[in-house]
Amino acid sequence: MKKVNKICCIGAGYVGGPTMSVIANQCPEITVTVVDINQERIDRWNDEDLDKLPVYEPGLKEIVASNRGKNLFFSTEVDKAIDEAEIIFISVNTPTKTYGKGKGQAADLKYVELCARNIAKVAKTDKIVVEKSTLPVRTASAIKSILQNTGNGVNFEILSNPEFLAEGTAVEDLLEADRVLIGGDETPSGKEAKDILSSIYEHWLPKERILQTNVWSSELSKLVANAFLAQRVSSINAISALCERTDANISEVSRAIGTDSRIGPKFLNASVGFGGSCFQKDILNLVYISRSFGLQEVGDYWEQVIIMNDYQKRRFAEKIVSTLYNTVSGKKIIFYGWAFKKDTNDTRESAAIYVADALLEEKAEIIVYDPKVTEKTIYADLDYLGTRSPEENRKLLKIATNPIEATKDAHAIAILTEWEEFKTYDWSEIYDKMLKPAFVFDGRRLLFKDEMEQKGFQYYKIGQS
Ligand code: NAD
Ligand code: UDX
Repeated sequence: MKKVNKICCIGAGYVGGPTMSVIANQCPEITVTVVDINQERIDRWNDEDLDKLPVYEPGLKEIVASNRGKNLFFSTEVDKAIDEAEIIFISVNTPTKTYGKGKGQAADLKYVELCARNIAKVAKTDKIVVEKSTLPVRTASAIKSILQNTGNGVNFEILSNPEFLAEGTAVEDLLEADRVLIGGDETPSGKEAKDILSSIYEHWLPKERILQTNVWSSELSKLVANAFLAQRVSSINAISALCERTDANISEVSRAIGTDSRIGPKFLNASVGFGGSCFQKDILNLVYISRSFGLQEVGDYWEQVIIMNDYQKRRFAEKIVSTLYNTVSGKKIIFYGWAFKKDTNDTRESAAIYVADALLEEKAEIIVYDPKVTEKTIYADLDYLGTRSPEENRKLLKIATNPIEATKDAHAIAILTEWEEFKTYDWSEIYDKMLKPAFVFDGRRLLFKDEMEQKGFQYYKIGQS
């Protein structure tokens, strides 16, 4: 089997950056180059100040610090990296299409296709091309067709190697992966390519955890894994609404059902709704694929997971309005958290964006505090929705750097992200600063109801009456 010396990854985002940093760390003899067309992103990956890395993940900056410049490189020289690498990972974004056929559901594959065309143009030696991006089933065949029609005699093996890391725990997930999935052709050269890729992961993972499948199973499994995880969150969120109408408590229900070993305890935390760049996008893609194969019922079944998630976000915003005497106009509401979950600076599809949008439509005055998300990102998220002008968004929504001072004369606090630091705040001090009655809407079930009520708060916790 061929020994790997050089690999490159196209796309230095939330997946490409951490994944390649871990590979470089675990495989010191392999040179890893991560390339991107976004100069600012690459500059930040190369910044001496490790707090400026474009991706915040616990443990990441330490890994980057000890490998960067040795066998880990970040660069905008895409063609050079393609030319030199034996294995090329494609880890570019595959967002939901915003135009044309499949708009709002299908994955937009233009970035992946551009990569394939670029590889076809530049490659002079045989390459293994690895789909790391999440792609619809049968994309590998499209990539193959682009690569095989170059006429320059280069042989390409296409593998599907979807990434299962979750943000906020990316480094840990990569180092302790439950499994690595490698899909490829069943031909001798396809099998060899799978073994070569497997040899990289075998540097730190037991071989039994590296699953080899055909390429379609691998592509489909990624969409299905996300759909199943999101389905659990929507299922528990549906029940949280029922708990609020009865005297049942969603934590008790989660524990009661999660202790059944067939169900298991994970992904049963009721919340204001799931966010992130993957769940919604991948389910919409699954819905689109199902319907395009004429499987209407299958598409409808999975779409319900998204419908329930939208309901949960809307329900939270409506709860705030109805509790604050049916009007939030001119009222000061503090958002604790903007990221889609703790321990990440990523805000894509964060529930906070949609809750803020609904409250701003009701003319609330919002102040946001998030320990890792920048002001620029928060305004960009709101402006992208296009509900209001950028000027109006900046007039109605402000950013706080001091989360405690921000609560002065506030009517309410809404907890949108489960950052640990929110638990450590002196909530009595916050209570004293706020207007009375002082309301807290806990969309993350982060605090204790009894304690908050003892301090004087009117406290609403998702999934509890
Ligand atoms: P991202 O937007 O953070 O990063 C993608 C990067 O690719 C961007 O920096 C962009 O500039 C770059 N890019 C786009 N086209 C390029 C080109 N032609 N040449 C060079 N660079 C190019 O996206 P991400 O979150 O890292 O996701 C990447 C893929 O991985 C997606 O398909 C996603 O569905 C999948 N995925 C994401 C996660 C996650 O947690 N974010 C987890 C598993 C899988
Ligand atoms: C997800 C998958 O977990 C990961 O395997 C895949 O590679 C990418 O998509 P990610 O979106 O980064 O990862 O985070 P995840 O931990 O899955 O959380 C997604 C959203 O669901 C977050 O908004 C989170 O707060 C929410 N969630 C998760 C809940 O509301 N309740 C839960 O019990 C679990």
